[in-house]
Amino acid sequence: MEGKTEAQRCLVTGANRGLGLELCRQLLARGDRVVAACRQPGKATALNTLAGEHPGRLHVTPLDVAEPKSHAALARELPLLTEGEPLDLLVNNAGVLRGGERYGSVQAADLETSFRTHALGPFLLVQTLTPQLADNARVANISSEIGSIGLRQEFRTPSYAIGKAAQNMATSLLAQALAPRGILVVALHPGWVRTDMGTDRAALSPQESARGLLQVIGGLQARDSGAFLDWQGQTLPW
Ligand SMILES: NC(=O)c1ccc[n+]([C@@H]2O[C@H](COP(=O)([O-])OP(=O)(O)OC[C@H]3O[C@@H](n4cnc5c(N)ncnc54)[C@H](OP(=O)(O)O)[C@@H]3O)[C@@H](O)[C@H]2O)c1
Repeated sequence: MEGKTEAQRCLVTGANRGLGLELCRQLLARGDRVVAACRQPGKATALNTLAGEHPGRLHVTPLDVAEPKSHAALARELPLLTEGEPLDLLVNNAGVLRGGERYGSVQAADLETSFRTHALGPFLLVQTLTPQLADNARVANISSEIGSIGLRQEFRTPSYAIGKAAQNMATSLLAQALAPRGILVVALHPGWVRTDMGTDRAALSPQESARGLLQVIGGLQARDSGAFLDWQGQTLPW
């Protein structure tokens, strides 16, 4: 949070590569404590190297966001990783994009994976971790403009688009549910970013996108909860 000087406790999902990894790097660089969750910590080489560089401030832990049992395991583990202190920031960053889908052959499995990863996962993870969120904490759901119904003008990546649109509704509902505790929940479009998902043709580096996202999160006010914003703080249509 802007103006807040003490170190925050943060949880980032899908933290082993791409934007998630860069968010962890920047949170550590500003002095925060980070729980970095990923599917296969044993294979998360870059993240484990980062943990070695920040002893005691970065904990790498397993999480498959699409699996509620994995959420429960994380909830049990979390107090050990945060010394029993609540989380100030939860970034639901994990995402998956199935390319090459064509109308006529869209697969149930791809729709289901997207829904579980982008909507069911973040929604139920937040619900499970709610007792471990600080009052006035922030929840940032990394969405995509591709999930904007208002901006859609072509048939493209349907599984991803439908999953992200559902995630946006989850964001809106979570904002309502958590408002009594002052917890702000937003959907954030990170821009088109040079990651495995965004490809090297993308406009933004992970560094630029993560810097923008953290600035937007830091500047959130109560009135912003439930909003759909991009990495520069501009409001996007649902
Ligand atoms: N890059 C862009 O241009 C762009 C644009 C708009 C929105 N976004 C959003 O930004 C977020 C980060 O994307 P990115 O560009 O960094 O993508 P990325 O490089 O493909 O990384 C995706 C991350 O999500 C993780 N993940 C996927 N499914 C998971 C699951 N079930 N449980 C836990 N982790 C899972 C991956 O882990 P594994 O290594 O285990 O697969 C990986 O760490 C996503 O939500 C994406 O939709 C990206």
